[in-house]
Amino acid sequence: MIRGVMMGLVLCASLSSVAEAQNVEQGKTLFLAHCSACHLASGAGGVHFGNAVSADLRAPGLETTYHNSDKLLLRAILDARDETDEPLDAPMPAWRGKLTQSEAQDIIAYLKTLKS
Ligand code: HEC
Repeated sequence: MIRGVMMGLVLCASLSSVAEAQNVEQGKTLFLAHCSACHLASGAGGVHFGNAVSADLRAPGLETTYHNSDKLLLRAILDARDETDEPLDAPMPAWRGKLTQSEAQDIIAYLKTLKS
């Protein structure tokens, strides 16, 4: 009985880490396809567009700015609104309609693996 429970726990833990790894992989692919042109492949940003500068999307800066809230990060990506709900500067696109919420979540999972 105890052995069965323990094996169940081990199985659960390994299944969830597989799911996570897939999301991060998928997030990386999406990031490189849609975001790296402006935010660089490293996520470091710093590219100038007129008066705007593309943001550094690496941890821990981004998550700190967005109060460690995936909900606020999701809004930033899908609606181009900052942590205070102000519009982000152009040319940051609002990705709603171009990326699904689940794709944006995969990108967030990937961004959390980038370190400044
Ligand atoms: C055409 C260029 C461009 C593309 C493509 C782009 N961004 Fe941006 N992004 C910007 C700029 C410029 C800013 C800074 C806006 C500002 O300072 O208000 C920004 C800001 C952000 C922010 C806010 C960061 C902060 O510190 O407030 C996030 C999050 C973000 N981008 C994520 C993404 C993701 C994810 C993608 C791809 C799905 C992406 N961006 C694609 C130009 C771009």
